[in-house]
Amino acid sequence: MLTIFGTRPEAIKMIPIVQALQNCPDVVSQVCVTGQHREMLDQVLSLFDVKPDHDLQLMHKAQGLAPLTALLLLEIDQVLAQVQPDVVLVHGDTATTLGASLAAFYRKIPVGHVEAGLRTGDLSSPWPEEMNRRVVDTLSTWYFAPTEESCCNLRREGVDSARIFITGNSVVDTLLLTVDKLQRQPHLQAKMSDSFAFLRSGSRMILITGHRRESFGEKFENFCRALLVLAKRYPEVDFVYPVHLNPNVREPVYALLSRVANIHLVDPQEYLPFVYLMVRSYLIITDSGGIQEEAPALGKPVLVTRDTTERPEALAAGTARLVGTETESIVASASELLDDEAAYLKMSQAHNPYGDGHASRRIAAIVSSLPSLRGCTQVPEATVATVAGT
Ligand code: UD1
Ligand code: UDP
Repeated sequence: MLTIFGTRPEAIKMIPIVQALQNCPDVVSQVCVTGQHREMLDQVLSLFDVKPDHDLQLMHKAQGLAPLTALLLLEIDQVLAQVQPDVVLVHGDTATTLGASLAAFYRKIPVGHVEAGLRTGDLSSPWPEEMNRRVVDTLSTWYFAPTEESCCNLRREGVDSARIFITGNSVVDTLLLTVDKLQRQPHLQAKMSDSFAFLRSGSRMILITGHRRESFGEKFENFCRALLVLAKRYPEVDFVYPVHLNPNVREPVYALLSRVANIHLVDPQEYLPFVYLMVRSYLIITDSGGIQEEAPALGKPVLVTRDTTERPEALAAGTARLVGTETESIVASASELLDDEAAYLKMSQAHNPYGDGHASRRIAAIVSSLPSLRGCTQVPEATVATVAGT
């Protein structure tokens, strides 16, 4: 079987599955990275000491979606021709996920989709991810849904429930292992604390990330203006913003925020220091998918700077709030949490709707128990025809 991923979040969520598959004696497992992200992917590969069998090096500066997708199809097809896997495992909703699933589909190779079934119901948000995940779920044979909610979305769309497995989200596996590593190794904590020596002792710290394509332009500037207002209103609070390497993000962020004393713009952090920052933070402001899943497990309130989310579980639990992309609403929600202790405490109850830390083991066990997937006798006739696309 072949696991394919290409961006930072896919690596964080797929590596524990790859490691669990290596412990399955009956599975011959290979890894292909597309290199859709380069530096940000390599940070994760080296932290977990993963050496891919195939590395396609597909990142170009400020890459457009059409050329990226075209390259993904061409290059992944060659790897599939060489490896001839019985199943391809993909994750989530990126261009890599779409390219890998479509390339596998064209070669009639069954696709297992990890983190299947997430939906906002709005094709423009997140863009293009909502389209990617719907297409990938149309092409898939096996569905690893992280929650009941994502399973229900798939069933509502007519997916045969025998093909859906509710597994939890493997991001929790990686997070818990990393928190444990930090807690057990005080020298690591001391090292982290030294690297963030600019944080004032005992200060409240707000951790920020932002990178969604549908927000580029005016919405992103509104978001930066909200940070400016907050930094001025709360000079005693430290704002830490690891800035995504996408030039469409870096240019406005550095232009608008680089000269404010209590806003610390830093490069994308390796996973270990980033987890340290999440644990150290008072609250998190983000449009990230993965961080919406991690923060509740750490008891950190999250303000989600988007108009929609495919992760409603943390909203329902009260640990996350959708604040949109208007300056005023971001400022109002963050100010409430900084000023009103009761409101803060209500949102900061640790809650973990996304998993128990064993999703990877579960997914690997299911994958290894699938009969040889090509010509699989368990697959109903009608579905084989659909997957084969004949
Ligand atoms: C991609 C995914 C998005 C995911 C995000 C995670 C798509 C369409 N989007 O968005 O779903 O949430 O990753 O971060 O697949 N760059 C670097 N070095 C890196 C990574 C990126 O320089 O290590 C720069 C490059 O100029 C690159 C640009 O960022 O062209 C955009 O990268 P890309 O992967 O196309 O999109 P993201 O916005 O990162
Ligand atoms: N992350 C990281 N370093 C950073 C910012 C984020 O390691 O500087 C991790 C974060 O903990 C989460 C993942 O990257 O696990 C989220 O990635 P991103 O926000 O880029 O993508 P998304 O989840 O929105 O697809």
